[in-house]
Formats: sequence, structure tokens, C-alpha cells
Amino acid sequence: MTSATTTTPDAATPHAAAHLGDPRPGGVGEAPRPLTLAVLLGSVRAGRLGPTVAAWFATLAQRRDDVRLDLVDPAALPHIASPAAGSVSPGDPGTNDAGTNDAGTNDVGTNDVGTPATRETVGRRLAAADGFVVVTPEYNHSYPAALKHLIDDYRQEWYAKPVGFVSYGGVSGGLRAVEHLRAVFAEQHAVTVRDSVSLHGVSAADFADGGRVAADGGTAAAVDLLLDRMSWWGRALRVARDSEPYA
Ligand SMILES: Cc1cc2nc3c(=O)[nH]c(=O)nc-3n(C[C@H](O)[C@H](O)[C@H](O)COP(=O)(O)O)c2cc1C
Repeated sequence: MTSATTTTPDAATPHAAAHLGDPRPGGVGEAPRPLTLAVLLGSVRAGRLGPTVAAWFATLAQRRDDVRLDLVDPAALPHIASPAAGSVSPGDPGTNDAGTNDAGTNDVGTNDVGTPATRETVGRRLAAADGFVVVTPEYNHSYPAALKHLIDDYRQEWYAKPVGFVSYGGVSGGLRAVEHLRAVFAEQHAVTVRDSVSLHGVSAADFADGGRVAADGGTAAAVDLLLDRMSWWGRALRVARDSEPYA
């Protein structure tokens, strides 16, 4: 069981060059306000690891002053996941029982089940977001059905915004799910960023204090690079959308 990341920055692209103008918060000519990133959970099944992965990501992201997070959990959205969906554990019963089988509120730092949100409420939150970070497992070489439902259920909310990925799974670390999602988000006029975070064969223990993910500086660096890319694209596209409506 190994953990790895897909940080792999381009050799020709220095890390420091990943910002747009005066990097954070507030680029040139832009009001100094942080980016709002909606964090989308992919999994709704019983015993899911997703909230643990999202909480770990949020802990790292919240150290930065250029992003604010809003968790959108399909398990808390009756129009996306029926109550029964959370009790079904298809295929692999999973060894990843995180002990945190809860849906999230929009406070990413918790694993509490949130008040069920309506389609309209979620639409407003997605519309208010400057970009999206998808935290997804891999199921049968692709991404979970609830995530597809969430993506399909909205349209302009995704337009001309960046999408980044934190994926997890078995040997692939969720990368096949990510590649499929890139095609889906392109159809929704969103821009997926190259650099992602990929966690191979992880379980809840890996995210606890001293666990191999929590203690891995390389993985934390991959999160930071992902957020650098999101920050650049998020700022650039916000300026572009403000100057001319995309559609
Ligand atoms: C139905 C199902 C199919 C899966 N298929 C794959 C797969 O194709 N490749 C893989 O690497 N892991 C696969 N896994 C393992 C999951 O990616 C892994 O258990 C992950 O932690 C599940 O995320 P969750 O607990 O948040 O639902 C599968 C798990 C399930 C439940």
C-alpha cells in the first residue's frame, strides 16, 4: 500500500510563476478578496472515506489566505442522493471505514451532517464559487454516480471556472476517475487544471496525526501546487467573467 502524488510540476514552470500578477489576495486591478472554492465530495456511500480526505485537504488549504472553502456534499442534497444511497455499499465493502460516515456542512472543517440543502441553495453556492475542487474516489475505473448527477444538474454555475482534483482509490489513486471528469467538465465549459493530488490505497489511519498522508510533506506540497494553479486560474477567469459575460 503506497501513497503518491501527481505534483510533477513542469520543469520549465517555476513554482513561483504560478500566480497571476500580485498573487494573493487580489491581483493587479482586482479588489483584494480571496477566491471562494467549492469543495465537491464524490462519494455518498456508507462507510465512505470522502469526508476524511476532504477534511485533510481543508486543513491544508485553510492555512492560506487566498482561498475560502465551501463544502458541497451530495450526501446532504436530497435532490442528488436519496437517503437510501448512503446505505448502499456496492462492490467492495471497503476497508476504508473512516468512522466518519457523515455528510458535511459547508464548514469543511467538520464532518457533521448538514441541513439538507435545496437545489436552488446549492445552485447559488456553486454560482458564487470562483472554482471547484473535486474530492473523488474511483469506482470501477471511473467516478461515482452521485458526482455525475451533481455536475449534470447545473449548467452556467460551472461556466468559465477552474476545476482541480483530489482523488483517491486503490492502485490508481483515483486517476482514472479524474481523467473521465476532465471530459465531463469540458462539456460544462469549465477548465480543469493539470496538477492534481492523488492518494493511493489510503485508509482513515493515513490521515490521522502521524499517518503516512498526514506526515508526508510531498503530499502537502502537491496540495499547495494545486491551490497555486487554482488561484491563478481562478483570478484570471474571475477578471475575464467580470469584464465580459462568458455566455
Ligand atoms: C464500487 C466500488 C468500486 C471500486 N472500484 C475501484 C477501482 O476501479 N479502482 C480503484 O483503484 N479502487 C476502486 N475502489 C476502491 C475505492 O476507490 C476506495 O475504497 C475508496 O476509498 C472509496 O471511497 P469512499 O470510501 O469515499 O467511497 C472501488 C470501491 C468501490 C466501493
